Amino acid sequence: MKRLHHLVLTLVVAALMAAPASATQYLSTEFEFTDVIPDTGDALVLLVPEGQTDLALDGWSQATREQVARATGAAGFTGQPGDQVELLAPVDLDFDRLILAGIGEVAGTPRPQAEEVGAALSQRLNATDAHAIVVSSILLGEGAAATRLTAEVAHGIDLRNYRFDRFKSDPSPRPAQTFVWHSGDPQDVEGRYHLLRALAEGVFTARELTNLPGRVGYPEAFANHAREVLEPLGVEVTILGPEEVQALGMGSLYSVSQGSDMKAHLLIAHWPGGTGDPIALVGKGNSFDTGGYNLKTDGASILRMHTDKAGGAAVVGAIQALAGQEAPVNVVGVVPLSINMISGDASLPGDVVTAGDGSTIEIGNTDAEGRLILADGIWYAREHLNARVIVDIATLTGAKVGALGTEYSAIFTRDERLEQTLRTAGDLTGERVWPMPLDGYEGITRSRIADQINTGSPGAQAGAIFLEHFAGDTPWAHLDIAGDAFVAGPQGIHPEGSTGHGVRLLTEWIYEFEGAGR
Ligand code: BES
Ligand code: MN
Ligand code: ZN
Repeated sequence: MKRLHHLVLTLVVAALMAAPASATQYLSTEFEFTDVIPDTGDALVLLVPEGQTDLALDGWSQATREQVARATGAAGFTGQPGDQVELLAPVDLDFDRLILAGIGEVAGTPRPQAEEVGAALSQRLNATDAHAIVVSSILLGEGAAATRLTAEVAHGIDLRNYRFDRFKSDPSPRPAQTFVWHSGDPQDVEGRYHLLRALAEGVFTARELTNLPGRVGYPEAFANHAREVLEPLGVEVTILGPEEVQALGMGSLYSVSQGSDMKAHLLIAHWPGGTGDPIALVGKGNSFDTGGYNLKTDGASILRMHTDKAGGAAVVGAIQALAGQEAPVNVVGVVPLSINMISGDASLPGDVVTAGDGSTIEIGNTDAEGRLILADGIWYAREHLNARVIVDIATLTGAKVGALGTEYSAIFTRDERLEQTLRTAGDLTGERVWPMPLDGYEGITRSRIADQINTGSPGAQAGAIFLEHFAGDTPWAHLDIAGDAFVAGPQGIHPEGSTGHGVRLLTEWIYEFEGAGR
């Protein structure tokens, strides 16, 4: 009976996982780029720079101009980012609605703000039944800054539009909206958008993997989903199963899921776009975190723990984005995959395990499982992949949330260039990072009976100090993204649920670190 139950469950899960959605499947929009503005449609959107006084397109009648002037005057519209005015049934125009969207200063509006404009537009349009939408950025003028802004607004619309509805019997229709982007240099806008679209597709994969319930996105299923998304893009994917994990000595990674039928895996995704030793991104892929025998006992703290694979999902998404952009870089993603569950075989508090590097670890708390799997992931990147530099990313500690909330991710590193380039990438993308110290905390993970213990105080530093050991002499940074990977309700560019946090940060960081401008 138990067998049968297991078989049925496996089949159901296999069916659900069978077709990882192609990225277009996540989107409810279709985009076209032109320098000839259509004169009919459901909605016409004008992107308006700050301080623009003549809010009109060529050919508009005097009556239209007057109506727009009265409406913007009444609304106090100045063209600041976030300013939006909507007119229903604009006179002499063959559109149901005209929307004026402020964009700020053409040369000065940062990318996150432009994306927010797109997200707000999307939110507004999704509340209507508009299908045919025309967006004109002609008032922004031509040139690189206008092109960049327009593409970033489009990117903001994409980011907001992802839907996690694979479990709905009646998912929303796709595509539901067609956008025609009107500008003076449509090819430039399209080229710029194309790169951001590849980035958005990486974000969607990360959101999808993170949103999967624990028992659907279990280690092997996560790895297979990643493979199906990445291989068509030219990424070399290797998946190590539990036997190989054990044979290579990665007892720390293995131990976290030893109590479950869903055993440890290690995903390796190599984008060989450049030469030299690779940059390694290592992400925590814990399909679900019950805490283990140190069980998470209050309902609220355990409920969202399917998002404990967000770091690993961000790594998969970043590799996908870099491959989609054909980035001229040599990058390898490493995702140790586990599920932290209880059974007669599970780890006990106080157990000692041996990691891939041969060092021993006392399990002071089974709920500090993230560092146990990352230890072997980091070591594997250094020892088996010859990583030139390692950045790990993980939903690692509640202490990080206490220190920084979700406004910033924590960065721990002793490498100045790593810190500086990660902060730059964070500011650029809006996925900001704030440095926390390693210096002075050496020894806080000393164990009485083993080489290290997986607990210590203060909590976020203990995680970082523990991990530092496994990077050895390789330049290394640790990103603690606890709390950053999930929003309970829609927020700007994020629909509710997983944010895909880290994909944009890591992707832009690679360019920043490699000095590969674009
Ligand atoms: N996955 C959690 C960290 C977490 C907390 C992520 C809140 C997202 C939101 C991690 O595995 C964990 O349980 N950390 C413990 C470690 C402690 C037992 C040493 C923590 O921070 O409480
Ligand atoms: Mn935990
Ligand atoms: Zn965890």
